[in-house]
Amino acid sequence: MVGLPARGKTYISYKVSRYLAWLGVNCRVFNVGEYRRKLVGAQLDHSFFDPSNEVATDQRLHCAVLALQDMFKWFEAMHNGVAIYDATNSTRSRRKMIVDECQKHNVEVMFCESWCEDNDLVDMNIREVKRTSPDYKGVQDIKRVMDDFRRRIDHYSEVYEPVGGDGTRPLAKGQYPLPPVKPTLEEYDERQVSYLRKINVGSKMVINRITSYLESRIVYFLMNIHIATRSVFFSRHGESMYNLDQRLGGDPCLSPNGRKYAEALPSLISKLLGDEPLTIWTSTLKRTSETAAGLPYKKMQWKALDELDAGLCDGLTYEDVEEQYPEEYAMRDENKFEFRYRGGESYRDVVLRLEPVIMELERQQNIMIISHQAVLRCIYAYFLDIGPEELPYLKIPLHTVMKLTWTAYGCDVQMYKIDIDAVSTHRAKPKAAKRGAGSMKSTANTPGSSATATARGSAEANANPFMISTATTAAVLPEQPATAAA
Ligand code: ATP
Ligand code: F6P
Repeated sequence: MVGLPARGKTYISYKVSRYLAWLGVNCRVFNVGEYRRKLVGAQLDHSFFDPSNEVATDQRLHCAVLALQDMFKWFEAMHNGVAIYDATNSTRSRRKMIVDECQKHNVEVMFCESWCEDNDLVDMNIREVKRTSPDYKGVQDIKRVMDDFRRRIDHYSEVYEPVGGDGTRPLAKGQYPLPPVKPTLEEYDERQVSYLRKINVGSKMVINRITSYLESRIVYFLMNIHIATRSVFFSRHGESMYNLDQRLGGDPCLSPNGRKYAEALPSLISKLLGDEPLTIWTSTLKRTSETAAGLPYKKMQWKALDELDAGLCDGLTYEDVEEQYPEEYAMRDENKFEFRYRGGESYRDVVLRLEPVIMELERQQNIMIISHQAVLRCIYAYFLDIGPEELPYLKIPLHTVMKLTWTAYGCDVQMYKIDIDAVSTHRAKPKAAKRGAGSMKSTANTPGSSATATARGSAEANANPFMISTATTAAVLPEQPATAAA
């Protein structure tokens, strides 16, 4: 990462790492700010970041080198993967060091710079995110935080050199001032390096020498994400006739209670959304379009939102499967994420087919997805950073709406239950189930990863008759090593 403070580098780092981990790529964020807090201390004022403060400059370099060394150790242990080195990396000399060290360790480098000229947005980032950082623990006076952080930014600005080595100063008048670029480190030509510059939250993107598959996935992902406030809702279809019989798959209609849920849904959604516009995405199966029928919004069907294909087992109950395909039944319990039904799909297959849905979801504003148990588990796992061992056992109850709310580095999910009876189709993880195969990965080290993503009660739940629980990717990042903001 490259960028002045409060430019969303940590936000982008964790978002990319969640996305890649969900797709099955080993991914880890190395946050230099966290090393600094551990080694030098958290509550340091802006003078620590002054480039003329030689002692502090050495200490900062020391922290950067330690994080880099840990990153190479991680690469050695993983053999492959993506490490995100989250720091300001704001000078050419720092970036040259990174490129040189990576070359020595046979690691490819791609710089991702977040450039933002919108001072109001930067101020909002300071107010909303930096103020709660451990750097300002116990400081009540918001003006003091704002002044100190702005001065920190000014110190970085004094020496900041945009990625690309072209010497341009893309600053408008009145923005944080920068001196002219001095042509230093001429032997290091940044035009030869892979980089992406995300300018003003993506209103413009510059890409240079993006060649590998993963680089292009990351670039495409970063083109699609935005930070506008919006609401995303998920719901399973109303209870279906197959659910009543505990049968898998098929294309059944809603049960009488399922129809009641469909009738009750519009009023809950309008309460939660107000007058805002919404688009409904359903699968191509009858039970989801029947559930969406009464919702007065634009609708779109996605084949990718169809339920996990149970192949030969489609239409059977779990008991039938155990009786007719005992080996398969046992194999599924052994590793549910990887298990592929004969003639059907695995959870991994579903994750991969959902990738375009996730990408579009990142790009869009208010969306409600009405889909199925397995599919919603996969989508939920993306947002809540849940790994493949837990993913296939997540509880996504019928007749419940989930609403996502974005936080500084992740998101919260609130669950709203509509009080209409429905069967449970959740089959708990059998006690004997082993841990997944070696190919199963833990999730990215996103703040508050799977462990914190379990449902918890909340005061808000008591205030709202529909709301039953919330889960979160808890943006508590600063306190834990390697998961904190710079
Ligand atoms: P620091 O260098 O102090 O660690 P940072 O650049 O890592 O700062 P973050 O901590 O990630 O900044 O800031 C988070 C805030 O940035 C969030 O409020 C998020 O909405 C916002 N943000 C996300 N992307 C961008 C972007 N491209 N430009 C500006 N702000 C962004
Ligand atoms: O039982 C409802 C259902 O949506 C089935 O159609 C589907 O096969 C199943 O849930 C997926 O859940 P699991 O992976 O836990 O069997």
